[in-house]
Amino acid sequence: MNLSISKMISEDEIQTRVKALGEELTAKFKGKDLLAICVLKGSIVFYSDLIREIDTDLSCDFLGVSSYHGKTQSSGEVKLTLDLNTPIDGRHVLIVEDIVDTGLTMAYLQKSLLARSPASLSTVTLLHKPDAKKVECEIDYIGFEIPNDFVVGYGLDYQGLYRNLPYIGQVSNLN
Ligand code: IMP
Repeated sequence: MNLSISKMISEDEIQTRVKALGEELTAKFKGKDLLAICVLKGSIVFYSDLIREIDTDLSCDFLGVSSYHGKTQSSGEVKLTLDLNTPIDGRHVLIVEDIVDTGLTMAYLQKSLLARSPASLSTVTLLHKPDAKKVECEIDYIGFEIPNDFVVGYGLDYQGLYRNLPYIGQVSNLN
């Protein structure tokens, strides 16, 4: 695929920010058991870097959701494609997202996981597009706020591609 991609956030900037987020999360969860939930597929790269910066007892689990269906605009409909393997009642849970765009996915995840009675539910996203917000959702930790442009790389895709770019790139030739 021949997209025109310009670098928005470099590898170094991402790594510095991820380390800082890891420190904040360590301060919050030190001495507690933390269940870190990776929201597939976009969060895989951020998640694997972030969990290595969190210094406490940590277990991993995975949730699959889809809302874009390969397009660049959210369909507005969030679908659970893979559920957790572990019960979360009484546990300290952290949702790790790649990007909060309209907020629909995060709001859906918060609602579904809160219904399972965790001891606490926290949220972290690498990217946040405040201008794209359609529904309110609280996010505890944000890596970077970005404009309402379509981005790829560091786990984020366009039609399944570009997840392996080490930086966040802005796509300029989408129609
Ligand atoms: P939301 O439900 O609209 O907040 O969208 C959340 C999901 O849409 C994210 O987890 C991403 O998978 C996808 N998404 C939103 N914006 C982008 C983007 O700029 N590039 C790639 N994927 C995106």
